[in-house]
Amino acid sequence: MTSSFKEFASDSLQPKEFSFTAENLREAKIVLKRYPKDYPEGALMPLLTLAQKQSKGWLPKKAIEYIASFLKVSEIKVLEIATFYSMYNLSPVGKNHIEVCTTTPCMLRGSDDILKVCEKFLNINSGSVSKDKRFSLTEVECLGACVNAPVIKIDQDYFEDLDSKSTLNLLDCLAENKTVKKGSQIMRRGTEPVRRK
Ligand code: FES
Repeated sequence: MTSSFKEFASDSLQPKEFSFTAENLREAKIVLKRYPKDYPEGALMPLLTLAQKQSKGWLPKKAIEYIASFLKVSEIKVLEIATFYSMYNLSPVGKNHIEVCTTTPCMLRGSDDILKVCEKFLNINSGSVSKDKRFSLTEVECLGACVNAPVIKIDQDYFEDLDSKSTLNLLDCLAENKTVKKGSQIMRRGTEPVRRK
């Protein structure tokens, strides 16, 4: 498994400062109220998500420091969470960030082929960003939708029951800015059993 986007971006890419926009600061204060006063770190994950969204899909060092100071927790605590969970990126990603699950259920259902299709179509290896910065690709552990394996997550959306053909079609649509069908690519509803013809 390639571990990617989990190392800090080079200093030249790091912004000098980070603070929440007024709107996100309001949102952060609302989030904080959901957690016990003596356990502010409960809000760590939603606040990291907010910071990542504000920074266009990745967390600069200054954002890690800012969240630590905002919650009055150590920076290492924030970094532990940011490095453990695959949804947080510590270096810039593409406009479409493609996460291919390659854990056992997805692997048994063909995720290796799907990863190869993505690498070939995008002309990048897992762990990289395309030259035009429209796409980035990474392998991840279980995305929690094993019943509909194999699965890809692109930004916040899931694409399930994939094979090489439907993956290619999906990438084609994204490249041409066409609407893409989310969820199961074989028209199954939720996780209902696959209908046999
Ligand atoms: S193993 Fe791929 S979604 Fe769980």
